[in-house]
Amino acid sequence: MKYYLPLAFVLTLSFSAAAQNQKIEKKIDSVLKLMTLDEKIGQLNQYTGDRDATGPITNNPNKLKDIRDGKLGSMLNVRGAKETREVQEVAMQSRMKIPLIFGLDVIHGYRVTFPIPLAEAASWDLAAMENAARVAARETAASGVHWTFAPMVDIARDPRWGRVMEGAGEDTYLGSKIAFARVKGFQGKGLGNLDAVMACAKHFAAYGAAIAGRDYAAVDMSDHTLWEVYLPPFKAAVDAGAATFMNSFNTLNGIPATGNAYLQRDILKDKWKYTGFVVSDWGSIGEMVDHGFAKNKTQAAELAIKAGSDMDMESRSYLPNLAKLVADKKVPVALIDDAVRRVLRKKFELGLFDDPYRFSNEARQEKELNSPENRKASLSMAEKSIVLLKNNNQVLPLAKNLKKIAVIGPLGKSEKDMQGFWSIAWEKDNLVSLYQGLKNKLGDKTELLYAKGCEISDSSKTGFAEAVEVAKQADVIVMAVGEALDMSGEAKSKTNIHIPGVQEDLIKAIQATGKPVVVLVMAGRPLIFNWTADNVPAIMYTWWLGSEAGNAMANVLFGDYNPAGKLPMTFPRDEGQIPVYYNYLSTGRPAKNDKDTRYRSAYLDLPNSPKFAFGYGLSYTTFEYADLALSATELKMDGKIEVSFTLKNTGKYDGEEVAQLYLQDKFASVVRPVKELKDFQKVMLKAGESKKITFLINKEKLSFYNQQLKWGAEAGDFKLMIGTASNNIKLEKDFALVE
Ligand code: NOJ
Repeated sequence: MKYYLPLAFVLTLSFSAAAQNQKIEKKIDSVLKLMTLDEKIGQLNQYTGDRDATGPITNNPNKLKDIRDGKLGSMLNVRGAKETREVQEVAMQSRMKIPLIFGLDVIHGYRVTFPIPLAEAASWDLAAMENAARVAARETAASGVHWTFAPMVDIARDPRWGRVMEGAGEDTYLGSKIAFARVKGFQGKGLGNLDAVMACAKHFAAYGAAIAGRDYAAVDMSDHTLWEVYLPPFKAAVDAGAATFMNSFNTLNGIPATGNAYLQRDILKDKWKYTGFVVSDWGSIGEMVDHGFAKNKTQAAELAIKAGSDMDMESRSYLPNLAKLVADKKVPVALIDDAVRRVLRKKFELGLFDDPYRFSNEARQEKELNSPENRKASLSMAEKSIVLLKNNNQVLPLAKNLKKIAVIGPLGKSEKDMQGFWSIAWEKDNLVSLYQGLKNKLGDKTELLYAKGCEISDSSKTGFAEAVEVAKQADVIVMAVGEALDMSGEAKSKTNIHIPGVQEDLIKAIQATGKPVVVLVMAGRPLIFNWTADNVPAIMYTWWLGSEAGNAMANVLFGDYNPAGKLPMTFPRDEGQIPVYYNYLSTGRPAKNDKDTRYRSAYLDLPNSPKFAFGYGLSYTTFEYADLALSATELKMDGKIEVSFTLKNTGKYDGEEVAQLYLQDKFASVVRPVKELKDFQKVMLKAGESKKITFLINKEKLSFYNQQLKWGAEAGDFKLMIGTASNNIKLEKDFALVE
């Protein structure tokens, strides 16, 4: 009986969902029938609002006229209950009265800023990330906005690329899980609920692989890498029900993604049966002219609509050209109808046809924004995002009865940099600097000293002397170094990713005082800081943590929260190693160790190994892995193996560990990576506590794309590895997959 009830329940749900869908399709038919071709094309057009040079949209008569004339389906950068209502009122004056969709880049929080997505990924905590997106969605929806251009699910293996900050890092398995969680978080119980916004999986596809890490540059990659590494997070977003996709600026093997029918039609809409719509990236339809792929915007519009780009974000190619392209029989009207249908479907699902103003409610906005509950969620996410890189001699956690602590470094009192790139509706009143966070924690018993030492990108050391004097008076020095909020993000590619300016020299000067030093690195990407890593006893990577940054850092520094973050991206020793990632393909001449260079796949001047590996991160406690057992050493194609081991907290603090499972296919018809993350569990253990942890392995976990690009597993030998980081495997065993 126990099993029948849920099944009946699920069936009822899916029947009612199907009935609901059918109803919507009928409604779309009835609207489409009444629309002129121009009105249909209008639905595929999107303008920006208030970030425009001409000022707020409400002051822009030309745009308002286009809305009134039914020439617009959506706007981005219009936000707030009042402003969205005002603009929607104009749409309601159009002949068809089709409501607008408002979209916005809510990448890591709206009014309450959350840690940047890469930082959140370091938590490996899917429920927390889903919740972070949930909170952002609630605030966004309460501000009249229906759609966020997130999550960015681009795999990123190159920290020179500034947009690594927006994604989940380098790993496909972790990235896919996070993509799924974030889409679920944004869309909550489903579109139509007043606390849900449409998610947008972007940038489709392979944008993260821009050559040389230069934003907007070409992407050239094998089908295997595309299908195995870059596409799965997008598929996960589809599976999670992502309402929309955004295509990308880059070319993929010579074809702009925006004009790429293989990506948008063959894969997304046909193979994956995607029913949402695809928005272009900003101006990317027009940019096909700059790419030299289309001779003018007219041809760009033709190529884009044929390739499956449904909505034109700000390139103004569709509105002036599509009608003529239809008249000239270059674009079948059925393609326009299909794109409009996809857009209208979302408007129905959002409930906008019933009430176009349902999201624009000032009372709800007032209640929702910056609420204590939302701030609490941001604080918790920030604590989880911090990665403890080094803690020699247990410098951390700090004792709460220290007399004098010095905060030194250009980011020590910074509030705005804690936000990170893509922060939206933040206000100065809700930012907590490191200095303030420490003050909040310590009260008056501990004296807090401060010296800036230098600016973030300074070449001058004139502030060092004062900083050293301040350091000498303190029991402990907490240093705050890293990047300013506009140093990582869109169009923020760098060839030099060392800690900027003279900050590392400042660290050397302070360390020379002989006082205990803790360095906090605040940044949007993996940075290089080899001297610090080799010489300073305690280092925490805090990324950009958002509204509650200072409080989160203080909680971790004093042990009120035991750090558990693990790096979602490899940290190189030098830019010359890039791209450097843990799941590289095997070579015929592997180096046995960092010194093994003779006719080996190695560098003469640096080891192959990174400074900090994917999956790495410490805790204030220690963990022991033991008793690995496999339920069988042979796996049948339709069977499974249970893997179990004992995880023990062997230290003095309660703490969490992310136990990671990696697999290697030892020989296959296509050369496989040296290891691939295939599962993980984040486990809380009290000091001294042990737990039996189990994982399941089945054929799916061993599958890959063969020479014919067919997904499946091949019989043979596999290596199972369980560890605390990709480069710190604690347990391993071989098993075989048999026919
Ligand atoms: C360009 C960016 O690539 C994209 O991610 C963003 O959503 C749009 N601009 C809109 O701001």
